[in-house]
Order: sequence, then C-alpha cells, then structure tokens
Amino acid sequence: MLCLGIESSCDETAMALVRDGVLLGERIASQVEMHAVFGGVVPELASREHLRWLRPLMDDLLREAGLAVSAIECVAVSRGPGLLGSLLVGLGFAKGFAYGRGVPLVGVNHLPAHLLAVGLERELIFPSIGLLVSGGHTHLYYMRSPVDLELIGRTLDDAAGEAFDKVAKLLNFPYPGGKHIDHLGRDEVPDQNLFPRPYLHNDNLNFSFSGLKTAVLQYVQKHSGLVMASMDTVLQPDYEPDPALARLCSSFNWTVAETLRVKTERALDRYPEANGLYVAGGVAANAVVRETMENVAAKRNKTLLLPSLPLCTDNGAMIAFYGEILARAGLFHGLDLEAIPRGKQIPWDYGVDRKLADHYSQ
Ligand code: KG4
Ligand code: ZN
Repeated sequence: MLCLGIESSCDETAMALVRDGVLLGERIASQVEMHAVFGGVVPELASREHLRWLRPLMDDLLREAGLAVSAIECVAVSRGPGLLGSLLVGLGFAKGFAYGRGVPLVGVNHLPAHLLAVGLERELIFPSIGLLVSGGHTHLYYMRSPVDLELIGRTLDDAAGEAFDKVAKLLNFPYPGGKHIDHLGRDEVPDQNLFPRPYLHNDNLNFSFSGLKTAVLQYVQKHSGLVMASMDTVLQPDYEPDPALARLCSSFNWTVAETLRVKTERALDRYPEANGLYVAGGVAANAVVRETMENVAAKRNKTLLLPSLPLCTDNGAMIAFYGEILARAGLFHGLDLEAIPRGKQIPWDYGVDRKLADHYSQ
C-alpha cells in the first residue's frame, strides 16, 4: 500500500511516501530558523508556514519519487498531540486529499509514531519497553504490539527536551538548544555532582525535570560569565567553548541521561518479558543518551531499537510508516477526525474496515 504521511504538529512541515514499510521519499521544510529569533515556536507563524509548504512539498515529493498523485492509496496525518492550529492545517490538507482522491484517511498519534519509526530501519520487536523523549513528552511505554502501547510512566512537569531547551535559553543559545548542549559537552568529562539527578528516590516510573532546570538556573546565576553575549556564537563552526561551559553542558547531558537510565532500567525490571528497548524522539539524538541506552540494552541482553538521527526528530516518514501499519490493520478515520492539542488524551477512535484490511493484506 502506498501511504502518504503528513506531519505538521509543531515547527516542521514534513511529508513522506512509504510503501510496504519502505521509505520511497520524504521532504521536510523546517521553520527552526524563523522561530529561533523568538526563542521558541510562535504558533500562529507555525500554522501559516505549514499552509504555505504542504502543497509544494507534496508536488516535489511525487516528482522526485516518479509517482503520480493517483498512485497514493492512503493518507496518514499526525492528529496530535501538538499545536492545535498547526495540526488543523495538516488535517485540513489530509481530509481534502482523502475526500478528493477517494482514499482512506488515517489519523496518527505522533507519539507511538516516533517510537515505531525505527521499523523503517530494522524489524520491530515485541513485547518491548519504549522510552519517548521529545520536546513535549517524556513517556515510558510497555509495547505489546504496534497498536497496543500502554503508558507506564510520564513526566510530571517539564519534558526532557523542554529541560534542554530551557537550559539552552538560560545560556543564550538559539532555540531549540538541545543539540548545542549535546555538542558543546561532547569533549568534556561530566562532573557527576554538579547537578542533582531529579526525582529518583521513589518507586515509580515517572519523571520530573523542573528541579534540575532550577539547579542549572542557580548555577548560571552564580557563574554569569557562562552566558553567551550573542546568540549566534555557538553557531560558528570553529567555536570552542570555555572549559567551564563545556563542563556544564557535559554534566547536564550526563544528568539527564542518567535519570532516563534509572527509570528505564526500573521499567525493564518490572517487565522482564520485554525483549526490546525502543528509544525515540528528539532527545534520542543526544550522544550521551544514545551511549547510555546502548549500555543498558547490552548489559541486560535486550535489543536496542534506536533510530538514526534524522528519524529521531519530527519527520513525515514516521507518520507514513505508522499510518500504513494502521491502515493494513483496517483502522481508518472519517472526515470528522479531530486534532488533539498537547495535554489532552488521544482517543482510540478508529473505524474498522475489514474489507479494506483484507484487500491490503493480500
Ligand atoms: O521529537 P522532536 O523533534 O519534537 C517533538 O515532538 O517535541 O523533539 C524536539 C526536542 C527539542 O527539545 C530539542 O532541543 C531536542 O528534541 N533535541 C535534543 C537533541 N536534538 C534535538 N536534545 C538533546 N540533544 C540533542 N542532540
Ligand atoms: Zn515529535
């Protein structure tokens, strides 16, 4: 089945074509530079950019893949969580496409789509534990199958990516600053006692990163020389950080990765039947997080399902890939599909079409 995937939940307009689990092409129009000036995503600007880009991206994608629009058999769209206005632009486009072309519409939950995206690169394994670490979420799941994910842990306040971005902002790095903290800390040994590892002295699988952010704030207030005079400095290719700044970044990377490790290992203890460990979302691009999770999986003899860097952050391929899985299972939406903003539960409100499922499974 050839599935068009549309992602417009935040500040990336992305589209991809997946057929039978194989990526045929993808396009992404990033708005990062535009929002960087404001130190965060400006929702109204994001929606307008999505509106501007969706059509040209699709034309470009089809041209490059050498496919006619009539070849598309299913349209999958990110229906949340995300910015409501941004989601509505993607949904409007997908609904118009589905109605106009007479193809099924599949609303995709952005969060499992992140976790399952690794299926474009290797075989999926179940049951597994899934750690989703993005700008808006820090979730742990017990994953029984692609359509059966149980939320077993979540952040009580800031998400891991949000903590990275807020610390980056304190240091006057451009938004989103997670990757700059990652890079600037790479060649420095972390001070494991510089910041507290937050919210570990309990027996649950939840996270809380706001205390860590406050600890960094207090440290930066005492060492104000660490704050960049200009936002552009870290973007210079030959920029070498002051050792104290590199130490701060390295210690922050380590503290977040260690916190994620403790709760992930706790989840693996509680679900010993899990064979795999999925790690996904923007923060899964972080070098220390990647290395830490590689060690966890190796130590516990689990298969690590960690996507390559472009698949960690928001992309259209993950929506097309998961959309195709859902469509093959006969799960579709009508044109009344709703966008779900961040903070609201995504309902499991698929219609089941056995005839279509049988047709596509042949
Ligand atoms: O998954 P994603 O692209 O978007 C959401 O669905 O939120 O994640 C974006 C988040 C941002 O907070 C960004 O700073 C963070 O992922 N991020 C990183 C790295 N690359 C992206 N954080 C730490 N290290 C990185 N290398
Ligand atoms: Zn995302």
